[in-house]
Amino acid sequence: MSLPTPASNASPYALQPLLHAPSPDEAWWRRAVIYQIYPRSFKDSTGSGMGDLAGITAELPQIATLGVDAIWLSPFFPSPQKDAGYDVSDYRGVDALFGTMDDAQILINTAKSFGIRIIIDIVPNHCSNEHALFTAALAAAPGSAEREMFHFADGLGEGGNTPPNNWSSLFGGSGWTRVQNPDGTPGQYYFHLFDTTQPDFNWRNPAVQEEFEKTLRFWLDAGAGGFRIDVAHAMFKKEGLPDWGGAPDGTPRPGFPFADAPMFAQPELHQVFARWREICDVYPGEPVLCSEANVRPLTRLADWVAPGQMHQSFNFDFLRTLWDRDALASVIGDSLSAFDTVGAPTTWVLSNHDVSRHATRFGLDGVALDLGDGIGPRDPQPDTVRGLARARAATVFMLGLPGGAYLYQGEELGLGDHTTLEDGFRQDPTFLRSNGERIGRDGCRVPIPWVHDAPAYGFSPTGESWLPQPEDFAELSRDLQKADPASTLNLYRKALALRSELGLGLGSLAFYENPELPEVLAIRNGDTISVLNLSDAPVVLPAGEPLLFSDADGEPLAAEGLLGANAAAWLRATD
Ligand code: NOJ
Repeated sequence: MSLPTPASNASPYALQPLLHAPSPDEAWWRRAVIYQIYPRSFKDSTGSGMGDLAGITAELPQIATLGVDAIWLSPFFPSPQKDAGYDVSDYRGVDALFGTMDDAQILINTAKSFGIRIIIDIVPNHCSNEHALFTAALAAAPGSAEREMFHFADGLGEGGNTPPNNWSSLFGGSGWTRVQNPDGTPGQYYFHLFDTTQPDFNWRNPAVQEEFEKTLRFWLDAGAGGFRIDVAHAMFKKEGLPDWGGAPDGTPRPGFPFADAPMFAQPELHQVFARWREICDVYPGEPVLCSEANVRPLTRLADWVAPGQMHQSFNFDFLRTLWDRDALASVIGDSLSAFDTVGAPTTWVLSNHDVSRHATRFGLDGVALDLGDGIGPRDPQPDTVRGLARARAATVFMLGLPGGAYLYQGEELGLGDHTTLEDGFRQDPTFLRSNGERIGRDGCRVPIPWVHDAPAYGFSPTGESWLPQPEDFAELSRDLQKADPASTLNLYRKALALRSELGLGLGSLAFYENPELPEVLAIRNGDTISVLNLSDAPVVLPAGEPLLFSDADGEPLAAEGLLGANAAAWLRATD
């Protein structure tokens, strides 16, 4: 292969000044790698077709070999499952679908014996319409203490037939649902940012705040390692619930900046976060609070992780970034700069249960998907080979950055979405509420494959599976990947072990400038150089001792001084 030569003989990589200094604070959560388990789709121990807690406990040794610090468990609480468990009817229990409270305790204790913390998903913005507090509110009169726990309001106009304001549901349609009075006449409306079955709590009511403090203590007493806080930015609504002409999800539009959205990022949130931090801080092992806060811009998100607030917040700007060198460089630089102002780590993430997996996204050139939207059989289909190469590269590059990282179950197998799932199987309320206009998130939630030639690829003992799996899951099964040194699974294991050995999570960052290589992103973290080639052709590598490559050809190419197309590498700096 002929070596692409730079215009001059000098290295095309020029190290820039330090942008982010190493963290002097070595707290576990500043560098933690946290593995998200979506219990429905991880491992089914009973044969019901639904994953369960005992299935997770049985597979803890597999997770331990990955080398992660904690597991974030998506909700497993009692729930009518109208939004896959994000509609909670009892925050202090376990849904029979997933097992029992004993199973939860065994899981927490066994994980601890592997040195893995269990992070619980708390859903404080809303509950299920089957939660006892909501059924009591429905049975009570307008203006009662029971109704004050939620956002009940009279309708406007003749007969009160117009909802109290113009807010929409993020899942489509109006955000208000009208209830019936005991005599059958139409009554008040209640607000739900998500499905009709997910009434929003009124966080201005101290009784709501007390209720959640009890829940936090309940799980901390059981040994939880912290909490992921669902839709943390929406808990408080602006007093008076004024109309809003902006996008339902707060995406800035001319004249409607995110900062003005009356249902997001209200200042009162911070007192609640401070209280939760105090509660966590008295427990041993530094339980962590991680907010799912879809807040813009990053400088504003920094308020969520200021001293005494949450420990971490997902970096959704990073997750939203397309396969684009300059866009990635800006997000990384802006994130570190913004979070450094408050001394907080950045928490990188590429996939979760609400977005198309990154192996799928990066196989769709230039297509920006909104959070919450997936790919369906009628959409352009991804290039899965290129998507997987890029996903492996993106992960290696992400794990080379200083800060924490979240991984989503199955990404260590290189899974993409089920992009041809037929409509009849879909369960996401986004699909159902939008009459199929939005395909929703089922494609990234499909049960993961364990054994290539077993029914349901080993997900369940009976072959049952709550969503059907795509055929390419056979070749991506864990059993085959364990035995293949070049597999994505073994790449994740190597990268995580090396990341920890090299102390990259607590490390530093300086960019390399390389104007001759406009599709290459390179950074230095301590003595480690991390390079991402976003182009479809090999490029010159910086000088250094090779440590890790995302592609199988990495080593032979490096011997020629090259990094492969859509690949990433870590090198030990030799200067
Ligand atoms: C964010 C969760 O991740 C998502 O799955 C859920 O539908 C909404 N919050 C509502 O709880």
